[in-house]
Amino acid sequence: MASLLDRIVPVDALDVASRRVFVRVDFNVPLTDDGQVADDTRIREALPTIRHLVQAGARVVLASHLGRPKKGRDPKFSLAAAGERLADLLGSEIVLTDDCIGDGARKVVHDLRDGRVALLENLRFHPEEEANDEAFARDLARLCDIYVNDAFGAVHRAHASVDALPKLVGTRGAGFLLMKELKVLGALAAGPERPYLAVLGGAKVSDKIAVIEALCTKIDALLIGGAMANTFLAAQGRPMGRSLFEVDKLPLARDLLARAQEKRVTVVLPTDLVVASHVGAAEGRVVAADAVGPEDMALDIGPDTVANFRKHLLRARSVFWNGPMGLFEKSPFSQGSIGVAKAIAEASAFSVVGGGDSVAAVHQAGLAERFTHVSTGGGASLELLEGRTLPGVEALRT
Ligand code: 3PG
Repeated sequence: MASLLDRIVPVDALDVASRRVFVRVDFNVPLTDDGQVADDTRIREALPTIRHLVQAGARVVLASHLGRPKKGRDPKFSLAAAGERLADLLGSEIVLTDDCIGDGARKVVHDLRDGRVALLENLRFHPEEEANDEAFARDLARLCDIYVNDAFGAVHRAHASVDALPKLVGTRGAGFLLMKELKVLGALAAGPERPYLAVLGGAKVSDKIAVIEALCTKIDALLIGGAMANTFLAAQGRPMGRSLFEVDKLPLARDLLARAQEKRVTVVLPTDLVVASHVGAAEGRVVAADAVGPEDMALDIGPDTVANFRKHLLRARSVFWNGPMGLFEKSPFSQGSIGVAKAIAEASAFSVVGGGDSVAAVHQAGLAERFTHVSTGGGASLELLEGRTLPGVEALRT
């Protein structure tokens, strides 16, 4: 979709030498219990833009959110660990400011030399960030001559550093990661080569209604797993025992199935499931999708379902996957997601995966290289495919 990139200047077309370049990155990375970076994919993905700016002699000011702190400054949500990881990856020192605005931050940025990098502390320590507050954006604007957004994972948020700030900065552009994400997901949104299949999972149908509706005009088949499949199975009258499903969404699920049929989209639901009596169970049991017992909880798709999904996926020319097929983070219930990752990797299709757990499954299976694109944005990629306007992208247009 050419219009997605219209009037957006790529970072390598900006004259950045000796200029203060504010780069909105998405370092919203998972942390371990002891505060270390558990997965540094998002930091690594920002490296091409950061390295380019360093080499071009810019004074690089990085800014990000991390988590959803609700009580202002909270060390649990500090960007310190992300900064350390970045310093290791860059092989150079990074200065972390004590706050993203104020005298301390201004001094650090003022003293920054050409080709050096500073990281501002978590933007969300100020509620004004999420409120898209103009005065807060003006404070951030005082730290920069040029604005670059490379935070694809956050472009669907109309927050101050994503929306209000770029509109205040005359010279602005997109980083390499953002450009790549928009190009690949834009191609999917425009309607790629067919057969085009979507695999959707995760907990809730309600989170995926808009994307299912938008995809139904473009795809040939929709494969559904995860707890959201339970809602569709229940809507077809199957007993789901103690499985998680959205009881109030059964009419909606029926309606979505009818609409998919109208559009001639094949909907493929699980034929078997891995069940257990509780989420902490050490192992699961495979049952047919219509034989879930009253005490059973469906926690993954079963092997027949994986085989059936695989059969469909091997015929695809394009695939989009979002959402795990089960309780992926618990090993007895991870095989469905791993199986789907393997099947997509095997297919000779244009393949895109987005969303935390489905991306983790691809990495865990060691298959990231075999996907056309592993997106750094879960919510952002869904909103893009829904055809919604992304505030962070619109704000960049010149
Ligand atoms: C994400 O992890 O999807 C992005 O960083 C956006 O985070 P948010 O959902 O907390 O706005």
